[in-house]
Amino acid sequence: MVEQRTENPRVGSSILPLATIFFPSGSSLSEGSVVNTDSDSDTQRCLRLASQRLDSRLEAEILLAHTLGRNRSWLYAHSTNRLGTAQMLAFNELVERRLAGEPIAYLVGKREFFGRDFLVSKDVLIPRPETEHLVEKALELPLPARARVVDVGTGSGCIALTLAAERPAWQVIGADLSPPALAVADLNRRLLDLERVELINSDLLAELQDRKFDLIISNPPYVATGDPHLDQGDLRFEPAMALACDGNGLDLIKRLIEQAAKRLASGGWLIIEHGHEQGEPVAKLFQHAGFGQIETATDLAGLPRLTLARIIHELA
Ligand SMILES: C[S@@+](CC[C@H](N)C(=O)[O-])C[C@H]1O[C@@H](n2cnc3c(N)ncnc32)[C@H](O)[C@@H]1O
Repeated sequence: MVEQRTENPRVGSSILPLATIFFPSGSSLSEGSVVNTDSDSDTQRCLRLASQRLDSRLEAEILLAHTLGRNRSWLYAHSTNRLGTAQMLAFNELVERRLAGEPIAYLVGKREFFGRDFLVSKDVLIPRPETEHLVEKALELPLPARARVVDVGTGSGCIALTLAAERPAWQVIGADLSPPALAVADLNRRLLDLERVELINSDLLAELQDRKFDLIISNPPYVATGDPHLDQGDLRFEPAMALACDGNGLDLIKRLIEQAAKRLASGGWLIIEHGHEQGEPVAKLFQHAGFGQIETATDLAGLPRLTLARIIHELA
């Protein structure tokens, strides 16, 4: 789910707001007008000023490209293009929000995951690179050609929809307790032309009691309630129910493991992302619930970030 990184939340910069910089005294600021009398409004200069304020050229380019509805390479090919007043104000607002710490993904409304763009809003967790590792690992598992799969806590749908796109014959469900998160997953489902993926409002597997699965996959909330990281960086802006849970962050994982043991077909797999200090307790929970072939995998930094295991003989 989350590596608790702090993304550049520089608040309270002493530099003048962009609108003031872009519109030196005497320039017209009338709504909708195009400033075309000085070079202050050209793309290159706007980018330079915003880069200084954000201390990041890349972020300035992403925000300006988004404002203009273009991609970043367009900015290079059109560096002398003039920006209209409305465009400058819109760009300035994004820069201000970024300076207040808001994640880039929420500002531009999307994040790339496994080579595809996913829409995101403040109702869903921003997909993380470590979760791509979870997906990679799931794709390597020995599963039936028409595997029955459920992604528990689907959020933006990034895991469920990626699996469905990578394995068109799999029957994939995305489940989440949050209706607003499911609405975002639905938009992504339509954008990716993956309407065959089912989306279900459910507390873990509660609404799926009559189904059996070959693979249950989840990136659940696993930060301990009250953890100080929740007040830092991107996490301040993300939904609390996507991030934190009780029992030192393990309550939902424990409930999911117990429920999954009963919902998996013989030979079925459960694979869960967790915090880097939760490898041992999670493996014990798997063991206690009757799972075999338990494996904890490390990320690129060598930290244990996901555990998978198998139900050898169907339990119920
Ligand atoms: C860490 S986010 C993961 C989102 C997405 N799968 C991803 O990897 O980016 C956890 C998700 O679990 C959902 N969730 C929280 N409690 C839940 C519960 N009891 N049952 C189902 N989903 C839950 C949250 O709404 C959130 O979308």
